[in-house]
Amino acid sequence: MPPAKIIIDTDPGQDDAIAILLALASPDEIEVLGITAVAGNVPLALTAINARTVCELAGHPEIKVFAGADAPMTRPLRTAEHVHGDSGLNGPALPAPTMALQPGHAVDFIVDTLRTEPAGTVTLCPLGPLTNIALALDKAPDIAARIKEIVLMGGAYFEVGNITPAAEFNIYVDPEAAKAVFACGAPLTVMPLDVTHKALTTEPRVQAFRDFGTPVGDAVAAWTDFFQRFDKDKYASPGAPLHDPCVIAWLLKPELFSGRHINVEIETQSDLTRGMTVADWWGVTDRVANAMFIGDVDADGFFALLTERIARL
Ligand code: BDR
Ligand code: CA
Repeated sequence: MPPAKIIIDTDPGQDDAIAILLALASPDEIEVLGITAVAGNVPLALTAINARTVCELAGHPEIKVFAGADAPMTRPLRTAEHVHGDSGLNGPALPAPTMALQPGHAVDFIVDTLRTEPAGTVTLCPLGPLTNIALALDKAPDIAARIKEIVLMGGAYFEVGNITPAAEFNIYVDPEAAKAVFACGAPLTVMPLDVTHKALTTEPRVQAFRDFGTPVGDAVAAWTDFFQRFDKDKYASPGAPLHDPCVIAWLLKPELFSGRHINVEIETQSDLTRGMTVADWWGVTDRVANAMFIGDVDADGFFALLTERIARL
C-alpha cells in the first residue's frame, strides 16, 4: 500500500511535537504533505516557529509549513502557557529554525491540496483548535466530499473537561469551528481525553527515549519532563498524557485502539458548558452517528510503537 497522505494541522505544544516526530519517522506508512500551524497552545507566531523547529530536529527541513489562523473564528484566543510554557515547547534548548515558512495561507494550502490530490486520498490530522479546518470548509465546501478522513485530538465524554469542568482545550478554544467540522460529513475519528488520559508517560517510558542518546530522544524526554509536571500536580498521575500522538498512532496501528461510532455534537451556546462534546456513547438518542469516538488504548503497545519509531530519527 502507498503511504497515507496527511496534512497535520497543529499548535505545537510538546505533545504536538511528538506527534509530528512520529509521523516523520514513519515514511513507509505516512507521507506528510504539509504542516499547517494554528493559534492554540500559544499564539500563531510561536506555533509557526515551533512546527519548523520540530521538522528541523527530525532532519526534515523540506517539509512545507504554512501559517494559518491567528485567532478563533468568532472569539478571542485562549492559550495554554500554564501547561506548555511561554514558548509552547519549553523543555529542551533547541535552535531557532532556519527553514522558511511557505508563502500563502494554511487555509489555501488545505483547499488546494484537497482539490489537487485525487478525491478520497488525503487525511486531515488536526491536533489543535479546528479553526483552519473550518475556515477551509467554509471557503470551499466542495472539499468535504474529497477528504478521506479527519482524525483529530479533541473533546471528552467520561473525562469531561480539562480547560473548564465541561470542555477539552482544543474544542473549547474554537467551538464554532469544531461544530462545523463535526457537521461536515467527512469520516471522522476522534481521540478525546477519555483515551489520551490512558496514554500516560511513566519514568521508564521517558527513560527509554533518553536511552537513545540522540538529540531527538533527549528532546522528547525533556519535553515530557516539562509537560508532565502540570498533569502530575493536577491529577496526581504518574506522568503526562501524550494526547496528540494518539492521532498518528491510530493511522499506524488502529488495532491499538477501541471506540464506538456514535453521534457527537458540540455545545456553542452555554457559558457553563461551551465547547463540550456531547457524545451519545450510550445510544440514547436517534441522532445520526458522525464520529468514531475512541475510548481505550493499549498503552504498552502505544509506547512500544512510539519508542521504536522515534528511535529511527
Ligand atoms: C490538547 O490541548 C493541548 O494542550 C494539547 O496539545 C492537546 O492537543 C489536549 O487537551
Ligand atoms: Ca495540540
